[in-house]
Amino acid sequence: MSDPAAWWRQAVVYQIYPRSFADSNGDGIGDLPGITSRVGYLRDLGVDAVWLSPFYPSALADGGYDVDDHRDIDPKIGTLAEFDELVAALKAAGIRLIVDIVPNHTSDRHEWFRAALAAPPGSPERDRYVFRRGEGLHGERPPSDWTAAFGGPAWEPAGDGQWYLHMFAPEQPDLNWENREVRDDFLKTLTFWADRGVDGFRVDVANALAKDLTPPLPSQAELDAEDLPDGVHRLRDRDEVHEIYKEWRELFDAYDPPRTAVAEAWVRSAHRRARYASPEGLGQAFNFDLLLASWDATEFRKIIAENLALARSARTSSTWVFSNHDVVRHATRYALPPGTDLKEWLLGQGANPPADTERGLRRARAATLLALALPGSTYLYQGEELGLPEVADLPADELQDPTWVRSEGTEKGRDGCRVPLPWTATGPLFGFGPGSAHLPQPAGFAELSVERQDADGDSTLSLYRRALAERRRLQSSEALEWHAEGPDDVVRFSRPGGWTCVTNFGEAPAPLPAGRVVLSSGPLRGGLLPSDTTAWLEPSS
Ligand code: GLC
Ligand code: CA
Repeated sequence: MSDPAAWWRQAVVYQIYPRSFADSNGDGIGDLPGITSRVGYLRDLGVDAVWLSPFYPSALADGGYDVDDHRDIDPKIGTLAEFDELVAALKAAGIRLIVDIVPNHTSDRHEWFRAALAAPPGSPERDRYVFRRGEGLHGERPPSDWTAAFGGPAWEPAGDGQWYLHMFAPEQPDLNWENREVRDDFLKTLTFWADRGVDGFRVDVANALAKDLTPPLPSQAELDAEDLPDGVHRLRDRDEVHEIYKEWRELFDAYDPPRTAVAEAWVRSAHRRARYASPEGLGQAFNFDLLLASWDATEFRKIIAENLALARSARTSSTWVFSNHDVVRHATRYALPPGTDLKEWLLGQGANPPADTERGLRRARAATLLALALPGSTYLYQGEELGLPEVADLPADELQDPTWVRSEGTEKGRDGCRVPLPWTATGPLFGFGPGSAHLPQPAGFAELSVERQDADGDSTLSLYRRALAERRRLQSSEALEWHAEGPDDVVRFSRPGGWTCVTNFGEAPAPLPAGRVVLSSGPLRGGLLPSDTTAWLEPSS
C-alpha cells in the first residue's frame, strides 16, 4: 500500500444515500450541509472514502437515479458551493469522495429529452435516446413486448407512432450510446466532477449501455433465453460496452492521482464482471456474491477464493458488499430462515415467519468482520454500522420506490433500507432533522441511534469503529493464506504479519487459533469461538 494512487485497492468505502442521512434545514430531505456537519462522525468511524448516491436535480421518480442534469445539484439537497464545502471538509478529514454517475438514462425532465419529444422522428434530438416506430398501421403498439426492471412495459409512446425505451421507470429514458454526442457529454460530466475534486466514480448499471437493437427485435422470452452465463445478450453486458470505459479510463488517467471507478454490473458470472474491473476499464467492480450467498462456510470460502483469483487475473482488487440502497439490509436477511423469498417476505410481513433479529445482527456483525479482513475494498451502507434492520412494515401509502406502483402492489421495493438514520435517542426524528422525515422511522430506532451506541463499548457502532481502526493497523499487502484445518463450518485465513480471521458458521463452539485476540464480533466463551461469531487474532508477542 505504498503507492498512494492505489488507495482504492483496499479501502473502506461508506455509501451515503443523501436524502436519508442528515437533514440540516427541516424540509424532511437529507442534504449536503447535513453530510458536512457529520464529517466528524465519518472520520471517527474510520472510513477511507464516501460514496454519494445521486444528488443531482431530480423529480425523484427513482430515488434520484432519474437525473435532470448531470452537472448540477438538486436544490432540495444543496448548491454547488455546498458541494465544494463538503469536498473540502472530507479532504480535511482525510476522506476521499466517490460520486454516482448514471449513464444508462437521463430523467424525462432532462433538457435533451424534452428536446427529443419536441423534435420529429428521425431528428438528431431523438437520436440521443432510443426511439423506435411502434407496431401496427399507426405505430399504436409498442415495438416489442419487453418489460422494464420496475415492472410494466419498457416502451412508452411519444404520441406520433414512435416509442422510447426505458429499462427502468418511464421517467428514465435510455440513452443511445452509439451517439457520439452522448459519449462526449459524459466525458464532460466526468471532467466536471473530477475537476471539482472528486476522487472516483460509482457507475450505475455499467453493464447496460451498449445495446443491439437491430430489427427484428426479439421477444421478451427470446431475451430471457439469452440470459446464459456466456451467451451474448442484446441489452446487457455486451463486449462493446468496454470501448466506452476505455475512453473513460484515458480521461481518469490524465488526472494525478488517476481517478478511480467502480462498476455496478449485475452480470451473469464472476468472470464477466472482472472485465469491468480491468485497469484499461473502470478499474473495480462491485462483487455482490457474498450479498447473495447463504450463511454457509463452504459457499463463503468458494466465493472468496474465486473472486480473489479473478481480481488478480484482472489486475485489480476485489470488492465486498453486504448492503446497499437496493437490497434488504443484511441484519434482516440473516434474521430470516434460509431460503426465504425476500420479496414475498416483505409483502407478507405478519403472515411470514418473524425475523430472529438477534441472530440476524449476530451474523451480520460476523459477516462484516470477515469481509473487513479480506484483501480488497469493503463497501458499507449507511446505517449498517448501527445494525439497522430493514424497515419492512412501512405503510403502503408511504412507499416511494417506483416498484410498488409499477408492479401494481405485488412488489414492495427498496424503501425499507432507505429510512432516515437515527442520530439521537430522543428528540425530533431521532436527530435526523428538525422537520418531518420523507420516510417514517420506527420507534425501535431510538435504541439503535448513534447516541445510544456511542457510549456502549459492545455496540455495533463501537465494533465497526474498532474494526476499521485495527484494519488500518494490520493491513498490508493483498496476500491471503487459507487454513484448512479445523471444522468444515469454520472459515479461517491469515493475512501478512499473522493477522488471522476466523468465523464460525456452525452451531457448536469452535476452537480458537493461537494468538492474541484483537477483537471479536460477539463475546468469546471459555476460550472458544461461539456460533455465528468472527474473531481477529494476531501473533502474541
Ligand atoms: C441501479 C441503482 C438503482 C437504480 C437503477 C436505475 O441499479 O443502484 O438504485 O434504481 O440503477 O438507475
Ligand atoms: Ca434538507
